[in-house]
Amino acid sequence: MKKLLVLLLVVSMLIAVTACSKTPATTGEAPAADSNKVDIGIVLPTKDEPRWVQDETRFTEALKSTDYSVEILFSQGSSAKEKENVEALIAKGIKVLIITPQDGGAAASAVEAAKKEGIKVIAYDRLITGTDAVDYYVTFDSVAVGEAQARYLVEQATGTGNPLYLYAGAASDNNAFLFFEGAWNVLQPKIADGTFVIKNSSEAVALQGNAKLTRDEMGKIVGQVTTNWDFNEAKNKAEAHLTSAKAADKGNVFILAPNDGTARAIADAFAADTAVTSYKVTGQDAEKASVQYIIDNKQSMTVFKDVRTLVKDSIEMAVAILGGKEPQTTGSYNNGKVDVKAKQTEVVVVKNDNVKAALVDSGYYPASDFTNLK
Ligand code: GAL
Repeated sequence: MKKLLVLLLVVSMLIAVTACSKTPATTGEAPAADSNKVDIGIVLPTKDEPRWVQDETRFTEALKSTDYSVEILFSQGSSAKEKENVEALIAKGIKVLIITPQDGGAAASAVEAAKKEGIKVIAYDRLITGTDAVDYYVTFDSVAVGEAQARYLVEQATGTGNPLYLYAGAASDNNAFLFFEGAWNVLQPKIADGTFVIKNSSEAVALQGNAKLTRDEMGKIVGQVTTNWDFNEAKNKAEAHLTSAKAADKGNVFILAPNDGTARAIADAFAADTAVTSYKVTGQDAEKASVQYIIDNKQSMTVFKDVRTLVKDSIEMAVAILGGKEPQTTGSYNNGKVDVKAKQTEVVVVKNDNVKAALVDSGYYPASDFTNLK
């Protein structure tokens, strides 16, 4: 009887180990190099921003049906940790690396190490720049994100002299430039015709006559109004801008905020200023907390990027590569060194009047995640 029990225990342990190797493991720690083999390695930038936890959840859901073994690691905002993660996955024998870089330039050395081992690299959402070691790029239309944000502000503004506050993402993220480029495309003519007056960036004011900006010019503005994608930095910057602005620079204000996390932080700062009569603020990512802010009229809009599509596209690419096939792409992005073959996904604007249709009826979020949903 005892022998039978021991045998049963051993068998069930074996089953558990095999099951583990087929499901995606998720951990912030780089695992020991001698554990199970992994086919596809996924490296995401941080668990501290809801956007990337969304992606992790969607990957885990989508990977339930694959036979390949997958491991997801987080870099926690550190390029050094990211490199360690990539090295740990290389040691586990991955054939495909799906990676969102913490810093698009700094990640070059990590993916070059992967390329040396014959691993195919898929940049996920953020491009890795200045290297030929990126094979594919799956992305949303990031210029369209910025255009949609700016278009919203333009639609809401009447008359002239409307105070405009500009904020941007992290300068280490190529997307921050694409978002800003899109926003500038739409805002600049409305700054030139007097609809908007920029209140918080001397660099943007100095360049406001230019319909198109070079990367260096954009770098000057982004450098001045960056949030670094960090809620606290966004809040501190907004508060500093409000402290130095005169009452006449407030009233009904218009705010370009690059994403949801920073939008909520900036919105809270503007809402707390008694000289601000009303504010319109943009966002991006359709994070749950921002969806609630939109329902409550505390954030004006968000740009919904259906992460399920990006996850599906990147897994399909990985599976094609593992099967010796050429993945499908729709265009390319130059990363400063090479043209990287890309698959691009469209984005959807979400406002108070279409939250339910876009995010709940589409099955993206359950209605029970929100209060006062109409
Ligand atoms: C961008 C990404 C956005 C946003 C931001 C902050 O690269 O495209 O969706 O989440 O990073 O993490």
